[in-house]
Amino acid sequence: MCGIVGYVGPRDAIEVLVGGLKRLEYRGYDSAGVAVIGGDGELATHKRAGKLGVLQRDLVAEPLPRSETGIGHTRWATHGGPTDVNAHPHLGDHGRLALIHNGIIENYAALRDELAAEGYTFASETDTEIAAVLLGREYGRTNDLVGAFRAVVGRLHGAFTLLAVHADEPGLVVGARRNSPLVVGLGDGEQFLGSDVAAFVQYTRRALAIGQDEIVAIRPDGIELMDFEGRPVQGEEYEIAWDASAADKGGWSSFMAKEISEEPDAIEQTLLGRLHDDGVDLDEELAPGIDDDVVRSITRILLLGAGTASYSGLLGKYAIEKWAGVPVEVELAHEFRYRDPVLDAGTLVVSISQSGETMDTLMAVRYAAERGARTLSICNTQGATIARESDAVLYTRAGPEVAVASTKAFSAQVIALYLLGLHLAQKRGTLGAEETRRLVADLRALPAQLQTVLESGGEVRELARSMSDTRSVLFLGRHAGYPIALEGALKLKELAYIHAEGFAAGELKHGPIALIEPGQRVFVVVPSPRDRNSLHPKVISNIQEIRARGAHVLAVAEAGDVAVLPYADDVLRIPLAGPLFEPLLAVAPLQMFAMELAAAKGLDVDQPRNLAKSVTVE
Ligand code: M6R
Repeated sequence: MCGIVGYVGPRDAIEVLVGGLKRLEYRGYDSAGVAVIGGDGELATHKRAGKLGVLQRDLVAEPLPRSETGIGHTRWATHGGPTDVNAHPHLGDHGRLALIHNGIIENYAALRDELAAEGYTFASETDTEIAAVLLGREYGRTNDLVGAFRAVVGRLHGAFTLLAVHADEPGLVVGARRNSPLVVGLGDGEQFLGSDVAAFVQYTRRALAIGQDEIVAIRPDGIELMDFEGRPVQGEEYEIAWDASAADKGGWSSFMAKEISEEPDAIEQTLLGRLHDDGVDLDEELAPGIDDDVVRSITRILLLGAGTASYSGLLGKYAIEKWAGVPVEVELAHEFRYRDPVLDAGTLVVSISQSGETMDTLMAVRYAAERGARTLSICNTQGATIARESDAVLYTRAGPEVAVASTKAFSAQVIALYLLGLHLAQKRGTLGAEETRRLVADLRALPAQLQTVLESGGEVRELARSMSDTRSVLFLGRHAGYPIALEGALKLKELAYIHAEGFAAGELKHGPIALIEPGQRVFVVVPSPRDRNSLHPKVISNIQEIRARGAHVLAVAEAGDVAVLPYADDVLRIPLAGPLFEPLLAVAPLQMFAMELAAAKGLDVDQPRNLAKSVTVE
């Protein structure tokens, strides 16, 4: 949950590190720090509680010496609160060595006791400092940073990405990873390390994925990759598909605003090259891990994810079951592996993750693979751990998502799941040609339809501003509107810190209706009245039930649905689309609403309190 950057090369290391941290700040932002080796061969560090801006101001007021070797860190606290002392880097070897860490060292207490018994003392409450002191002790024995690093990582349990520098070895940054991400950026006469490629994409688009339990040493003229035993390893180089400008705000008030505006493009890109008039073509991407034989032998599908990703899974379930006739379960990744799930070779486990690094989801994928299930990941980040550890990957192409609240990645995940549903249906012969063509046309229409929804942003803003004192909002939906109700509530909670709950509208009378009192604001995602099996009349009844008890109803309804008018206090309109496509249009006003309400309350839209973009701890 922390952001990590490393650099060796001729540029001013501080500039590279701070720029990289800025792009990784979404991973955690309660403190930040840097360590560099100055031209005088001395280690210089500075770290501060608060967002990166606090550290930046300090570095302007009291600059560190120019350096060509350094490491930087932005933190999301686990062990020890967000204070100056607990911020990274942590020091070892009498202040000549600096180390930064992402993850949790589970056996830190035993290691601390071992070191304390030898007379070592600690300044912070962190698990990270234990690793720094241990590394200092090993360096004292070997005078070799790479060798000392190997000795240390072999003693750590848990999840960690570690980077370290030593004053006696300028021009060298050593890193290691287990269960936490680390990527190398390959330059010409310079090398980079980052939690993800955003850290260095402005300098190079050549990246190298570092595998589980591997160590990397970067020097200006090249890199050395080895496993924890020191055996050389061949890295997997790849080209980063997006450039630095994709991760900039580009004139928008926030990354979230920019990313919502990019939703039509995220959908379009995710469809690109995968659709033809008569169906989908995913053969090349899914094979060899999930070939036709596997597709035909699947007896059930398990969709796993967390937060927003899990809600995209709910929509995926409706589509896959309807189109391909395969039973689908959706489960929160962090619940899945603690309940002895029944898995076999007929089970296809599909993990959904924007970052591809969410620890809960990664652990669930590993658990499923160990028990013989096939694994497919739907992932937005190229080369991410979950993608690499799955039998096959279907990338969403939403581009970098920086705001903590997931928006365009959600839409792209739903699209990828729909493509998967069509692929399965095609291979298993469960959808007629006409129906398939109609669905393809519906998918193709979505980006333009969504664009028109985004154009109603002003209306949503007005509504949000009028509700800035609201303390509780409920969200109701049925069928495909239900996941959207859950997502609308999650967005409002995480961005505007307002109590919000999403319910299946049919569930209301089984309990939640007791919450309704005069003035209670309730968003209702209203299904289309045109659908043959429409739930429209039932949802209208649900609205009447809450209106009768004084609720203030905010409906998200199809253009032309006049039946809703007598029952809604406010109506946000979406274009006409098929039942499984409406949710992709209905979610945007709810995302915008949460964003605008947070902005009206003066809150940080991109970096809400207590959260991190990529949750790489369990
Ligand atoms: O990177 P992932 O898609 O695996 O992240 C999963 C959740 O942590 C994420 O969707 C989270 O719920 C978002 N902050 C919601 O906006």
